[in-house]
Amino acid sequence: MINHERVLVVDFGAQYAQLIARRVREARVYSEIVSSTLSADELLARKPAAIILSGGPASVYADGAPSLDPALFDSDVPVFGICYGFQAMAQALGGTVERTGGREYGRTSLAIQQSGVLLESLPSAINVWMSHGDSVTKAPEGFDVLAHTAGTPVAAFEDRGRRLAGVQWHPEVQHSQMGQQVLEHFLFDIAGLTPTWTAETMVSDAVAAIQATVGDRRVLCALSGGVDSAVAAALVQRAIGSQLTCVFVDHGLLRAGEAEQVKQDFVAATGVELVVADEKDRFLGALAGVTDPEEKRKIIGREFIRTFEATAGQLAGERGIDFLVQGTLYPDVVESGGGEGTSNIKSHHNVGGLPDDLQFTLIEPLRTMFKDEVRAVGEELGLPEEMVWRHPFPGPGLGIRIVGEVTEERLEVLREADRIAREELTAAGLDREIWQFPVVLLGDVRSVGVQGDSRTYGYPIVLRPVLSEDAMTADWARLPYDVLEKMSTRITNECEGINRVVVDITSKPPGTIEWE
Ligand code: XMP
Repeated sequence: MINHERVLVVDFGAQYAQLIARRVREARVYSEIVSSTLSADELLARKPAAIILSGGPASVYADGAPSLDPALFDSDVPVFGICYGFQAMAQALGGTVERTGGREYGRTSLAIQQSGVLLESLPSAINVWMSHGDSVTKAPEGFDVLAHTAGTPVAAFEDRGRRLAGVQWHPEVQHSQMGQQVLEHFLFDIAGLTPTWTAETMVSDAVAAIQATVGDRRVLCALSGGVDSAVAAALVQRAIGSQLTCVFVDHGLLRAGEAEQVKQDFVAATGVELVVADEKDRFLGALAGVTDPEEKRKIIGREFIRTFEATAGQLAGERGIDFLVQGTLYPDVVESGGGEGTSNIKSHHNVGGLPDDLQFTLIEPLRTMFKDEVRAVGEELGLPEEMVWRHPFPGPGLGIRIVGEVTEERLEVLREADRIAREELTAAGLDREIWQFPVVLLGDVRSVGVQGDSRTYGYPIVLRPVLSEDAMTADWARLPYDVLEKMSTRITNECEGINRVVVDITSKPPGTIEWE
C-alpha cells in the first residue's frame, strides 16, 4: 500500500469542509476532515503533511467561536486558512481581525497586488466567492499581503519561509475563478506535496486492505443495481475473487434493463459469482391494493429483508460467511462522527435486519471515498459505463414512482416512459448535468385527451429532472424545450394509456425529489 501524504481539513462548522476535501482529492492528494475541537497535539498525532483550516459561520470574536490552538504553528506543518480559517490564523499569529462593517457575500472582485507563490500566474483581477462579516486588517508579522477587495484590505497572505498561507474567499466553490489553481499552489508549491491519490492507487490500496482483512474467509455482498454496491463488490472481487458471493434480490421494481445489467453485464465485467433471488411475484403480491407511500416502503423493505435473509442464511449454511460488504461512503462516515477501520455491528443496521444468528463483520471498501471517486474507481475496474454513471435511485424503486397501487401493467407503462425519458436525456448529452430524473406515473389521476379521432381518458406521466449536490436540497432542471418536446411526443405515442406529460417545476423544499 502506498503511504499517502495526508492533508487534514479542519472543519470549523461550514458546509464547505467536504467540498475542500474533495478539491484536495481532485488535486490527487489524500485528505481527511477532522473536527475543530482537536488540540494541536491531536492534529499533529495524525501526521498531516499539511493542514487546511475551513470556513465557518462564526466571527472569531463571538462567544464560543471555535478556536485555533496557536501551538499548531510551531510544528513546521504547512497550513492554509480559508475564510474563517484565514481569520483564525491571522488572529493566532498576531495579525488584526476587525468588524469593518464591510460585509461581502457572493461574487466579489479581487485585486491581486503581488502574486507571491500562492497566486502565481493569476490575472491581476479575478472574481471570487466571499461570505464574511469580519476582515483581516493587518497581516501577522512576516507575511506578505497578496490581494485585497473593496471591503477587505488583506484578502490573501503568505509566509513562504514558514509555509503558511491563507485567503479570505472560498477557492473551493465553483464561482471562485482559478480556485483550484490557488489550492494547488498551496499544496504543491508551498507545502511541497506529491500527488499520489489516483483511481489506480485507490484500487490497489483497497485491494490490499481487503486481502489483509479477509484472508481466506468468505464474503457476501448484496447488489442493488446502484453504483455504490456495484463498485464495492467489484473491489472485493478484485481482491479475493471466488471467496465473494453476491446476492441480487430482483424485486421487479427496477427500471428497464437494470436487472439485466446486474445479471449479465456486471457479471461479465467482473466475473463475480451471483445468486439471483427472483421474487417479483412475491413483491407484487405483497403490494397489491396498497396505495399509501410509507406502507409501500415498509412492505418493500420487509420483503427485501426476508428474501435476503433466506438467501444469505442458505449461503451461510452451505459455505460459512464471515463478512458482509457495505457501500458506506466517506460523507456518511464524516456525518456520523468519523472513526476508522471496520465496524462489527448487527446487520440490521445496514441491509435492514437479519436474524440474530446471522452476524457478519462489515467490510466497507468505499469508506474513504467521495461519490466521484467511487465512479473513478468503477471506471478503473472496467465496470459498464451505464452502471458507473447511474443517477441515484431509491431502494423501493418504481414502487414509489407510481402514485397509487403498484400493478404489473402500471410498472410496464412506467418502465417504458422512463426508458424513453432516459434515452432522450442521454441523446441530448445531459446525463451528467442532471442529478436525478424521476419519471412518475400518476396512477390515480385521469384526464381527457384526443388521439387520432377518438377521445381518450388516460393517465399522466410526470417528468422530474432535478439538479442537486447531495439530495438534501434540489432545484428543478431547466431542460431545453426541444428535449422535453421529444420526450413528451414519444411518451404519448409509445406508452399505452398515457395521454399527457407534465414537467415538475418545484424545488426542494418545498417539494421532495420523489413524488412519494
Ligand atoms: P426525497 O424524495 O426525500 O429524496 O427528496 C431524497 C433522496 O433520497 C432518495 N429516496 C430514497 N432512497 N429509499 C432510498 O433508498 C427510499 O425510501 C427513498 N426515498 C427517497 C431519492 O431518490 C433522493 O435521491
